[in-house]
Amino acid sequence: MKAAAERSIVWSDDFLIGIEEIDYEHRRLVDDINKLHRELLDHVDMERIENTLGRIHARMQAHFALEEHVMVSHGYPHYPEHKAEHERLLDEYTELMTKFERGPNLVDQEAMENMLRRWIVGHILTSDKKMSLMVTSGRRP
Ligand SMILES: [Fe+2]
Ligand SMILES: [Fe+2]
Repeated sequence: MKAAAERSIVWSDDFLIGIEEIDYEHRRLVDDINKLHRELLDHVDMERIENTLGRIHARMQAHFALEEHVMVSHGYPHYPEHKAEHERLLDEYTELMTKFERGPNLVDQEAMENMLRRWIVGHILTSDKKMSLMVTSGRRP
């Protein structure tokens, strides 16, 4: 088992994409994911872990909806691919969460944490940044 510090995501300004509402939500999601890491490592009771899993799910959905709204309202040309990525991430997470709720032993916890890390590190640093570059450049005079 890796150390907790190794498995948590250290927030860095590199994650900032330059759209305030979206950056705020990313930061909150990183906090939630780190909280989940800690709860899994500390073997806290299932109810608390399920609450955290449910909160991440709800925030992910709301977050993706916000980004999709921003993309549509700016006529972002890569909207379909970006939305498809959101759908894949949400499906993957929902499947893992449902499995975990059926029986925590059915889930490879490390796989779940890796999936969340891949989303934060991968999706935000690539797709979200790419979106922001185009959206914010359109705002400049
Ligand atoms: Fe995002
Ligand atoms: Fe996104």
